[in-house]
Amino acid sequence: MPVKHVPQEIAPLVHAFNEALARLAQGYDRHNRFLTDAAHELRTPIAILRTRAELLRQEPQSTRLLHDIERLSHLAQQLLDHQLLDRPSDQREIVDLDDLVCRVAADFAPLAIEAGYDLAFEPSPDKTRVEVNVLQIERALANLVCNAIEHGGGGGTITVAIDRTGGIEVRDEGPGIPVEERENVFEPFYRLQPQSRGAGLGLNLARQIALLHEGTIRILAGSWRGARIRMELPVRS
Ligand SMILES: Nc1ncnc2c1ncn2[C@@H]1O[C@H](COP(=O)(O)OP(=O)(O)O)[C@@H](O)[C@H]1O
Ligand SMILES: [Mg+2]
Repeated sequence: MPVKHVPQEIAPLVHAFNEALARLAQGYDRHNRFLTDAAHELRTPIAILRTRAELLRQEPQSTRLLHDIERLSHLAQQLLDHQLLDRPSDQREIVDLDDLVCRVAADFAPLAIEAGYDLAFEPSPDKTRVEVNVLQIERALANLVCNAIEHGGGGGTITVAIDRTGGIEVRDEGPGIPVEERENVFEPFYRLQPQSRGAGLGLNLARQIALLHEGTIRILAGSWRGARIRMELPVRS
């Protein structure tokens, strides 16, 4: 708050208030940095652990161990992803939506195929340009495609489609998300199967990123098989 035109007897109060706010902001930054560093630091020991576990003889115990390590590594990545939310909005660039989405889909193609899916990409009928923080949108989409792989029933086609209104849909043919859970799944740490690999942060992150871009994200309702998640971003003319 400005102190300039404040009556003299109030000025110390305004000063104290401003200082308290500054301390709060500092504490918040410190906290955030700590979390990011911690997530980052976690990745090295997890990577070492994985390498060691991969050297073990193949038996049920070691397979389970590798599975647990995967979970840990996923959690560290998701914590790290949250740091992306602090990027200021001036770090945005105008890009072609097809290029951006296609790149993410291509990155996940081997993973999807290995997990038993076909992956289809449907580009937009026209050139669609968006002004975005590329890293953020990539991570949001990566989480949607990951979800289709993880929760999509292990077969059928995962489709990533774009339309000219800036809508991006990720569709799978798995069990889908029940109507009454369609908002809950965006809550942090909320999972339909609590024993699943993830931490329940992916959709929450995707929504926060969509909101930062004045966009939306929701689970579509319809009679088709599987889940359809739709993200909409404002289109640049
Ligand atoms: N494509 C999907 N099909 C069915 N269920 C899904 C799908 N995507 C997300 N979910 C459900 O929503 C929950 C939250 O998703 P998310 O926030 O990404 O967390 P997670 O780390 O568990 O993937 C998941 O645990 C899962 O139960
Ligand atoms: Mg997820």
